[in-house]
Amino acid sequence: MVLNGPNLNLLGTRQPEIYGADTLADVELLCAETAARHGAAVDCRQSNHEGQLVDWIHEARQRHAAIVINPAAYSHTSVALLDALATCDGLPVIEVHISNIHRREAFRHYSYVSAAATAVIAGCGVHGYALAVEHACRLLAAG
Ligand code: DQA
Repeated sequence: MVLNGPNLNLLGTRQPEIYGADTLADVELLCAETAARHGAAVDCRQSNHEGQLVDWIHEARQRHAAIVINPAAYSHTSVALLDALATCDGLPVIEVHISNIHRREAFRHYSYVSAAATAVIAGCGVHGYALAVEHACRLLAAG
């Protein structure tokens, strides 16, 4: 499952100097193509609502093999997302940030979610999603 958090529905028009020109549809296609190259499939979802993201993590925990998540601003605020991801024992959880959050404002330097992530990718632009899907596929193939 590929989850995108708040404001990422505006990718392509939202601060393109930081997040680039690709849209969310472009990102989802990139994830699908990357997964397909590894014989896998993705289920891509985006929400601006924390509780919806929690519900989808619960669903992924039951029905999906791995989670790629860009929690966006909730990275820096959400114990609820951390707690939800912490229940996903044994499921690879790859956290993605399009920008390098460590080069930005101090409030972006800490991600609550990272404590439940298997791996964290930041600053690679939207290519980070392809890296994340590929890494999840590799982990799953390795068993
Ligand atoms: C982001 C970084 C966050 O700080 C920000 O709130 C976002 C996007 C990124 O992808 O770089 O919305 O997660």
